[in-house]
Amino acid sequence: RDTKTEVGHYIGDYIARRINTFVPSEGHANFVLGCPTGSSPLPVYARLVELYKAGKVSFKVINMDEYVGIPRDHPESYHTFMFKNFFSLIDIDPKNTNLLDGNAEDLYQECEAYEAKIKAVGGIDLFLGGIGADGHIAFNEPGSSLKSRTRIKTLAYETILDNCRFFNNDLAAVPRMALTVGVQTVLDAREVVLVVTGQNKALALSQMIEGGVNHMVTASALQSHPWALVVCDEDATSEL
Ligand code: GLP
Repeated sequence: RDTKTEVGHYIGDYIARRINTFVPSEGHANFVLGCPTGSSPLPVYARLVELYKAGKVSFKVINMDEYVGIPRDHPESYHTFMFKNFFSLIDIDPKNTNLLDGNAEDLYQECEAYEAKIKAVGGIDLFLGGIGADGHIAFNEPGSSLKSRTRIKTLAYETILDNCRFFNNDLAAVPRMALTVGVQTVLDAREVVLVVTGQNKALALSQMIEGGVNHMVTASALQSHPWALVVCDEDATSEL
């Protein structure tokens, strides 16, 4: 697609088609959408909000990740991000949203319970994802096992630098750790759609698609997924 808006429109419509052809079954009553944060999915959420308001879609959400070390109501927590950019705009019933709690007393237990929650809703039908400039998916930083599941992850220096813009460019304010679904958790989704836009993602996109499957570019694991789609704008394709 030519622009970020067109990418968002395309993916939003694509997800709506999937939701509308979803057939409920025992233990899997709702379409389950895996959701990322970041600037790339914003046009997708904008399109889904339009469709939701027109009464065209309904779904359950499982979020990808959350920072550890900042309160849930911090302006840059992923909890705040999701409510501000998506959930509050569609007035979704909070019982249909699921986010990792980066302030849980027992973070290990929180991660284990999250995997169980994903199973309990019947698995993820479609995981929407973005990509980090270092090729990560969710917060699966370079070096993550491609078999990983939801866990605590120390953020790579490149990610901390990248995300500094959201914390008034104050490097010290950026959380050092996060909870994230694992690469295998993403691979377990029935379908994965990756939104990749902007010149700053060109290198990561080419490594992910044209390099081999490897744990230094964790998004490359999608090469082995039977049903993965990458939707990008012109800028992101410049290294392909
Ligand atoms: C964070 C998120 C990722 C996201 C990435 C890219 O690291 N954990 O899920 O893909 O940011 O964000 P952006 O789309 O703003 O470049």
